[in-house]
Amino acid sequence: MTGARLLGLGTYRPGRLVTNDEITRQVDTSDLWIRTRTGISTRRIADDDETTVAMGVSAADKALAAAGLAARDVDAVIGATCTAPSQIPGTAPQVAARLGASAAGTFDINGGCAGFCYAVSTAADMVRAGSARHVLVVATERLSDYTDWSDRSTCILLADGAGAVVIGAAETDHIGPAVWGHDGSRPEAIQVPGRGDNSFRMEGPAVFRWAISLVPTLRTVCDRAGVAPEELAAIVPHQANLRIVEALAGGLGVPDVPIARDVVDSGNTSAASIPLALDRMMEAGEVVSGDPVLLFGFGAGLTYCGQVVRCP
Ligand code: ACO
Repeated sequence: MTGARLLGLGTYRPGRLVTNDEITRQVDTSDLWIRTRTGISTRRIADDDETTVAMGVSAADKALAAAGLAARDVDAVIGATCTAPSQIPGTAPQVAARLGASAAGTFDINGGCAGFCYAVSTAADMVRAGSARHVLVVATERLSDYTDWSDRSTCILLADGAGAVVIGAAETDHIGPAVWGHDGSRPEAIQVPGRGDNSFRMEGPAVFRWAISLVPTLRTVCDRAGVAPEELAAIVPHQANLRIVEALAGGLGVPDVPIARDVVDSGNTSAASIPLALDRMMEAGEVVSGDPVLLFGFGAGLTYCGQVVRCP
């Protein structure tokens, strides 16, 4: 077996739903402004016990069950997060320990909002190379820990949640080549500065323009996978905000291909947003097992990564 594929997908959405009206009680904004500029109506915000690790464990449990595997079958756990509660230790070993994945190697990837796609690519390469039979990718984020609730340009966007996939071997490849890149000359465009300032800061309009400039890259992702854009069953970009999602997907020029719009209800959950959005589309029957979908993550760095995968 020389290929890799997604074997199972699981997610966790925090119980607490925060409406735009609730946000208007904290900052000078309106439901209409938020919906018009971002498309967001509600977002999920974690309670104290819904930690990055706890949400990741819940999503991972579901992904393993969907794959028909037990924790002991996992050879590696990759955490994809930019909101780990501590710099050290990483999230992956804590998730693995809680799952009982005692044989697994563990490490985290911080690719900002592109972290899930980088982790999927890494996991697929590990499986293809034979260094692991099953790799669990756990994207889990608590952006609310880093949200400045007095900054109206960012607190309207950010949210919490987790998504996980299990990747294993396949006779033919169901995970296409990753296309990635970065503009690291602008670290201040999206940052948590540190050194006393642990709040998420963003140059919104600059990020917006950079994200939209990536439209041709989505076409490259399809080309590298040998899939024509019109053959896609869905386009699942990072759920930054609806205007970016629709501009990126719209740039492919395939209006009949469904676009993930989970951001409307779930807000921007950084690395977790793509598995959350894909799960939502699978639950709704918009895509089914084996369908080719385009995943495309982009964010802090500035960095991006995308690939075409077949649905688990
Ligand atoms: N309510 C009302 N007014 C607001 C709000 C708000 N919540 N936020 C900003 N404004 C005001 C500004 O103060 C500004 O007022 P001014 O003209 O008097 O100075 C005006 O609205 C326009 O501000 P802009 O920042 O230019 O607004 P823009 O139309 O660009 O929308 C937004 C802001 C939504 C943040 C937009 O820039 C955006 O979507 N950027 C991309 C952000 C993103 O999705 N990043 C994703 C990567 S990061 C990650 O995923 C973790």
